[in-house]
Amino acid sequence: MTHPGLNSSQLRELSEDDGRNASNNPTLGDVIATRLARRDILKGALGVAAMAATVSPLAIIAADKANAGATRFSFKEVAAGVDPNHHVAEGYDADVLIRWGDPVLPGAPAYDPLKQSGAAQKLQFGYNNDFLGYLPMRGAANPAQHGLLVVNHEYTNEELMFPGVGLQDTKEAAFGKMTQELVDIERAAHGGAVIEIKRENGKWGVIAGSKFARRIDVDTPMELTGPVAGHDRLKTSADATGRRVLGTVNNCAGGLTPWGTWLTCEENFHFYFSGNMADSHPEARNYKRIGLPGNSYAWYKYDQRFDVTKEPNEANRFGWIVEIDPFDPNSVPKKRTALGRFKHEGAAGILNKDGRYVVYTGDDERFDYVYRFVTQARVDTANPAANRDILDRGTLSVARYNADGSIEWLPLVHGQGPLTAANGFASQADILIETRRAGDLLGATKMDRPEDVEASARTNKVYVILTNNNRRTAAQVDGVNPRADNRFGHIIEMTPPDGDHAADRFTWEMLVKCGDPSIAAVGASFHPSTTKDGWFGMPDNCAVDHMGRLWIATDGNSGGRTGRTDGIWALETEGEMRGTSMLFFRCPAGAEMCGPEFTPDDETLFVAVQHPGEADEDAKTPATFENPATRWPDFKDGLPPRPAIVAITKRGGGKIAT
Ligand code: FEO
Ligand code: CA
Ligand code: CA
Ligand code: CA
Repeated sequence: MTHPGLNSSQLRELSEDDGRNASNNPTLGDVIATRLARRDILKGALGVAAMAATVSPLAIIAADKANAGATRFSFKEVAAGVDPNHHVAEGYDADVLIRWGDPVLPGAPAYDPLKQSGAAQKLQFGYNNDFLGYLPMRGAANPAQHGLLVVNHEYTNEELMFPGVGLQDTKEAAFGKMTQELVDIERAAHGGAVIEIKRENGKWGVIAGSKFARRIDVDTPMELTGPVAGHDRLKTSADATGRRVLGTVNNCAGGLTPWGTWLTCEENFHFYFSGNMADSHPEARNYKRIGLPGNSYAWYKYDQRFDVTKEPNEANRFGWIVEIDPFDPNSVPKKRTALGRFKHEGAAGILNKDGRYVVYTGDDERFDYVYRFVTQARVDTANPAANRDILDRGTLSVARYNADGSIEWLPLVHGQGPLTAANGFASQADILIETRRAGDLLGATKMDRPEDVEASARTNKVYVILTNNNRRTAAQVDGVNPRADNRFGHIIEMTPPDGDHAADRFTWEMLVKCGDPSIAAVGASFHPSTTKDGWFGMPDNCAVDHMGRLWIATDGNSGGRTGRTDGIWALETEGEMRGTSMLFFRCPAGAEMCGPEFTPDDETLFVAVQHPGEADEDAKTPATFENPATRWPDFKDGLPPRPAIVAITKRGGGKIAT
């Protein structure tokens, strides 16, 4: 099967098919996809009885009460759909705060698509903004309206960024049009940004010339810390210490810590490495389990550390969670090896009641795992500096979800159970470098692509977002991943006993199974009061508001197949309306929604619009710089679409959706 119209992000989603299940059998999902394409015809055929078959008896009882109940969301739902612009609920403003190419550092030139350079990009806002974190400005008059915004720049779309280039990441193109200059721009457009922002007269703006402004990219010097630092498997020809590494890549989601630092996660780091590794190489098993090398960028041509045949250990220096102090622009980012090495989606955490810090992190690949890290030391809330290296010591565990609703957290500790030299783990360092393989041996539960895992400080519940898994077969269905060919994903809720996030056992239950509830074969399970606009598929990132409600950002609602772009759906978690979802904001065509982040007063919701202008999955050709699906947010001829951050506020003031 070919995919003529796919853009970068779609190709890369496909590449995550690597490895585990190469079956070509027709699946339930193919049936569903066909039905979705013909949904209007089929709707008549799917009567009430067919629909009821997919809804639990409890939900049917709830439906009777639906008119009596109400969600705690007070906004008028946006109509789902697809067009070149973004849309927000009536009565709200959605203002673009900063776009790809806008100045971040002094001396940055204004964005000019025909005069891009690596040197300019190093000073400008990067591409594909993903995670957003808001840190109140210390000592500010109103810290909810003046702070630092930290931003991840996950990856680049060469076909949309550069004139006359088109998609280079295919067998046919083979990076033929990539040059050193274009690669330099790509490298500088990765990583992250720190910007200082302030709300004045109701509107947010970026403070030019801020002393906190920073760009992090693929050249930023970083330190490897924790149990793996200095290990032989981290040493390269450029770094005999195994402790110093340049840069970070594919920074997807992340987290903020109570001591004021930013955790940025290295997700699909395999894409940046190229070359062929011999099966006999000592790292071959490690590489295979992570999908290395991914061969999706031309960087290896200009920098040998991305060529695995020349620097086989360089890839062991990526796949970590990186901690950055955004209040000190000269601070050296730290790759915290104690939290394991895999395709980290995010690193949201919560201060446990005993004072230890708990980080939840998903490994976003089909059939990979959910992890938890608990610090050994307690957080010193009075003295943030005392927590500086607290993430270097603690216990990393992987989750096993049982069908009876229990969860066991299995510690990844050297010497315990199968995690010994007999299985190739000479020390804790080996376990942390090959975390996935250690999880395999412990019998962790293979999940439907874990993306964000977010704890609610209000209720102590933890939400695990499973975006989709179209490779799960009927034989592989289990309690916590209940659908074969899970095209639309689901969200589970975990409950720690007595609110103890460090406990050995939790319980879990299903919050929602995603997709169109009016198509029985999809098997979605939203609350019946959810409208045709309110359902979503492919949940990815998430924010929790002060009332414990979820704000879900989606990735993959490719227009033609679902009749909707990605966006933000507000999801009720409590009471009889639990599972009710409403569309609050929708992306311009081709974009993925990322980064939802509230200010501490819940008056502003920042969202990140990633890769606007990609083509619909069913398009015949990929979208390009010359022919994008939208020119959002500028809508000017000659300007390509630009990933950007949007600040959403209520007109006249007040908390969002209250
Ligand atoms: Fe970068 Fe799993 O999304
Ligand atoms: Ca993303
Ligand atoms: Ca994501
Ligand atoms: Ca995703």
